[in-house]
Amino acid sequence: MKKEYPKTYIMRYMGSKIKLLDRIAPILERMVSKGDKILDLMAGTHSIGYALKPNHPIIGNDVQEYSKVIGIARIENNKVRLSAEDLERDIYPHLSKNKTYKLFQKYYTDTYFTKEQCVEIDNVRFAIDKVKDTKKKAIYLTALIYAMGHCQSSPGHFAQYMPKDHPRLKTLRKLSILDAFTKKLLENHILFSNFQNKVVSMDYRNLFTDKNIKKYLRGVKLVYIDPPYSPAQYSRFYHLLETAVKYDYPKLSHKGLYRQDRFQSDFCYPSKVSGEFDFIVSHASNIGAKVAISYSESGLITSTELKAICKKYFKKVRVYYFKHSHSMQGRGTIKNIREVLVTGEN
Ligand SMILES: C[S@@+](CC[C@H](N)C(=O)[O-])C[C@H]1O[C@@H](n2cnc3c(N)ncnc32)[C@H](O)[C@@H]1O
Repeated sequence: MKKEYPKTYIMRYMGSKIKLLDRIAPILERMVSKGDKILDLMAGTHSIGYALKPNHPIIGNDVQEYSKVIGIARIENNKVRLSAEDLERDIYPHLSKNKTYKLFQKYYTDTYFTKEQCVEIDNVRFAIDKVKDTKKKAIYLTALIYAMGHCQSSPGHFAQYMPKDHPRLKTLRKLSILDAFTKKLLENHILFSNFQNKVVSMDYRNLFTDKNIKKYLRGVKLVYIDPPYSPAQYSRFYHLLETAVKYDYPKLSHKGLYRQDRFQSDFCYPSKVSGEFDFIVSHASNIGAKVAISYSESGLITSTELKAICKKYFKKVRVYYFKHSHSMQGRGTIKNIREVLVTGEN
């Protein structure tokens, strides 16, 4: 019987593997033995780490801070689940006491959110900062990330907000951040395992060289790589989530009100992408791990080029093809997109 892998839905995320999990995860599991450590190098919403968590220690990394809190809540966390009583104690009493957290009201009123929704985000964020336990805080922040994705007046991401005459605006403007936040929190499906997992947040280039992180890479048997595959920078599409987590009053620019300090991934530049793959694949092979790369057939380089890069460092290289439909983030759905998984082992 086909195995169903655990799934955790946080938000609509460009390139999320949640719909391909039951096809990709068995291939990854066949490449390693039970208990072998897996590194999810560009983890996004951590869908792959969550699916593999029951049988493997997971190291998750992504350069975005919002991804780190999702990872702490869903991957590192092996003991904390929150309930209605926690909400009653940790969050609700503080909402009306907020006199200082005004970032969203000040920056984003009547853009991605209404004034009321911005006030709700600020109040919830204020209450979350009263929570001291890191895991609890990450679970609350993950619920806020879900709520912001659910209520936003934009087509599934934050690259631009909807014009005032958009037909869906009226409905989206009525949604309550607090209701969505509460609903996600009470869903409560966080899976625990007996393994020690670790989540970090850095440019993957530093991960392989950082003295403090190197110890976590010891014993990694498989590096799973799921990079951006188009010129669209994640830091532009999800900047508001980064700001909600950092709550740091950033300098903004452009009509979309992006953070000026947003990270630019070299995977989004046609002239740099093959160099990036070469760097990772060579480093994975240096630490004695196998590799598995997810990529789109409509990405910036071809699967033939990817295969050639893997062949430089690995003896056995295979390519798997998956057909699926792909959300265009508010511009409909493209059917029959081909996605590949290129694996390399020695
Ligand atoms: C295709 S998404 C990953 C999706 C993920 N597997 C999931 O199911 O949600 C690509 C991720 O790569 C991250 N990223 C891009 N460049 C990076 C870099 N240089 N270092 C670390 N992460 C990076 C982005 O922030 C984004 O979350």
